[in-house]
Amino acid sequence: MPITIRPLQPGFVGEVTGIDICQPLTPAQVSAIEHGMDQYAVLTFPDQPLTDDQQVVFSANFGELEVPLAAQMANPSMRRFDRLELGDISNFDGKNTDKLRDRDDSRRMYALANRLWHSDASFRAVGAGYTLLHARIVPGKGGNTEFADMRAAYDALDEATKADIEDMVTEHSITFSREQIGFEVKGDGNPDNLRPVRHRLVVTHPVTGRKSLYLSSHIGGIVGWPVPEARAFIRDLTEHATQPQFRYSHPWKVGDLVMWDNRMVMHRATRFDDLKEKRDLRRTSIKGVGLEVTHAQAAE
Ligand code: OGA
Ligand code: MN
Repeated sequence: MPITIRPLQPGFVGEVTGIDICQPLTPAQVSAIEHGMDQYAVLTFPDQPLTDDQQVVFSANFGELEVPLAAQMANPSMRRFDRLELGDISNFDGKNTDKLRDRDDSRRMYALANRLWHSDASFRAVGAGYTLLHARIVPGKGGNTEFADMRAAYDALDEATKADIEDMVTEHSITFSREQIGFEVKGDGNPDNLRPVRHRLVVTHPVTGRKSLYLSSHIGGIVGWPVPEARAFIRDLTEHATQPQFRYSHPWKVGDLVMWDNRMVMHRATRFDDLKEKRDLRRTSIKGVGLEVTHAQAAE
């Protein structure tokens, strides 16, 4: 059966069928998916009952897997899975338990910042490329993941703003996003994890050549600007970039895998009753190669 991509939102979100991603892929299938990602930026794969290992194997087709910062900084005894590359996007308290996290649990506070529009791992020198999220348990109500198309948002800017931001360089840190919701990241004693990194605000897709806004809640400054002015500007731009016409909201079903390109898309979690309802998603992320040239200019 050939791979079919049905547009859910033309040029932005496609639904992929005609493939079993629990099985090893052929090179032709990998390139069809990569080509789909270049065209769309978000792909959904319904009814894929992946195991943890199968999710890792599928993800590794697309590059080098990242170890999430939360996993890196977490106490190993609290981890729910053995594989460090597998991010725990759930509200469970620990291993082998049905207990949900308490209201004031610091892991819950940290994860609540996912409700801010962001690009994964933009606080790293090389941010995430693709993120893959797989649904194991979904709540009865709420808990969608929303996406906003940063290419369309860039295209819709007026020419004067495009010129103003063309060479703009922003500073990203995990502390900036958490600070926005009043949560202080303590870190693990390694200051490298919290130190701001620089990225260009306007990036170019390595294959299609399309320009995109590299925005994220992790941004806390613009190089050469006073901090309040920078944050007010980034807030305005984020408001522009996340208008309804640039958005898609994904209502999760068990077995869905959704993958997106963090270089071209921002995303956020939406609210659900996480003190009562279970939600268990598992995340893998691929290092976002392809923007090195653009970003090296930012470090100069
Ligand atoms: C993530 C994330 C959103 C969600 O896992 O990186 O932002 O809906 N998740 O859980
Ligand atoms: Mn995220």
